[in-house]
Amino acid sequence: MSMDLNPFCKSTRFAGKKLHLGLGGSVACYKMCDVLRALLRLDIQVSATLSPGAREFVSPLLFRSLGADPVYDEMFTDANVFAHLEPGAQAQAMLIAPASANLLSRLATGSAQDMLSAQFVAFAGPCAIAPAMNPRMWAHKATRENVKTLVEWGASLIPPALGDTACGEQGRGRLADSGEIFLGALRLLAPQDMAGINVLVTLGPTREMWDGVRYWSNPSSGRMGGAIATCCWLRGANVTAICGPGINVFLPEGIERISVNCANEMYNAAKDAWPKANMGFFSAAVADFAPIRPENADDVKIKKAATPGNLEIEFSRNPDILATLSADRGNGQKALGFAAEITPDMQSLLPLARLKLNAKKADVIAANRVNPASGAFGADDGSMAVVDAQGHEEIWQPQSKADIAWELCSWLLRI
Ligand code: C5P
Repeated sequence: MSMDLNPFCKSTRFAGKKLHLGLGGSVACYKMCDVLRALLRLDIQVSATLSPGAREFVSPLLFRSLGADPVYDEMFTDANVFAHLEPGAQAQAMLIAPASANLLSRLATGSAQDMLSAQFVAFAGPCAIAPAMNPRMWAHKATRENVKTLVEWGASLIPPALGDTACGEQGRGRLADSGEIFLGALRLLAPQDMAGINVLVTLGPTREMWDGVRYWSNPSSGRMGGAIATCCWLRGANVTAICGPGINVFLPEGIERISVNCANEMYNAAKDAWPKANMGFFSAAVADFAPIRPENADDVKIKKAATPGNLEIEFSRNPDILATLSADRGNGQKALGFAAEITPDMQSLLPLARLKLNAKKADVIAANRVNPASGAFGADDGSMAVVDAQGHEEIWQPQSKADIAWELCSWLLRI
């Protein structure tokens, strides 16, 4: 599940928020069950409306049973004559997924002829729409015009994905990945206090090749950096994520993703992106040293038979990305780095974090313990000791990486 591959599936920052989910008539309705469950796990209150088309594919009972409350039905019943006004009065955001061609047309003309399209017209808050249909229907001018109108009215489009559609055709039309829809919904509910801010994030490990097939690396999962990149994007920032290899973190397409392998590649990508960044979060576990390689190393595999005794490899120093870019800071640019230390307790992290802050000339250092038993690498939760250049310091209790990311973003916004 791509949703579970993003650290925000464990965020506590959305508890108590209210979202209205509208489903149109599409076979993709079944995919929304997982999205609904993921939203409910964050303690978001989700109400739902199934359009007449959606009710042909799935039953309101399914969504009611999963925890959506209320699930609205027909428009013209005696039960609640003002039901079409309720989401507009109560929900903070509306997610319409899947949106069929027919539903897009009803929304874009404000038809209000059925419960869902009436609720849409009566809703003034932020709205995201994830269409799903046959690729030729998606490409048709009528659909293009309807989408254009809805976007002009302020809706966020979660575009359909490329691939096989249920009708057996290929092209753009299938419902976006569940992770895109889940995070698209969270973005509607998040404060947009990072709008207009350009953020650079480095994440994951680097791989330093010895020969054509072997490398020196570390077990960084990229989850902390993935949480930060996602958090900034949810809060409205423009995000460039420079990702080391092999990470298994789902990032929404709205984040510009640059994939690199070794520290030098990461340094070059970060150096290019840095001038236009307002904030940098340097969470990558960059290898400090790289093997000095023989000529044509890419074409060579070091042979055991040709290496009697021990293999000796000399290492050269890699560039320090955080220290170099921090030293080269322009107007108002802020830099946050991480420290991973083995210490007897959390308190002992603080002086080490401050040493690192000074050595790297960063604005903030967030330090965690990587004692072999602590499992900091790849874990979903962690404790943090945080220090900043103004002399503030705090120790945080174990919490999810999504929540840590949230607090670190707020800290950098504050100073
Ligand atoms: O030097 P150390 O690895 O302890 O510092 C950790 C911090 O420095 C992290 O934020 C890491 O991303 C950054 N770093 C870097 N380039 C390196 C080594 C570390 O950006 N070559």
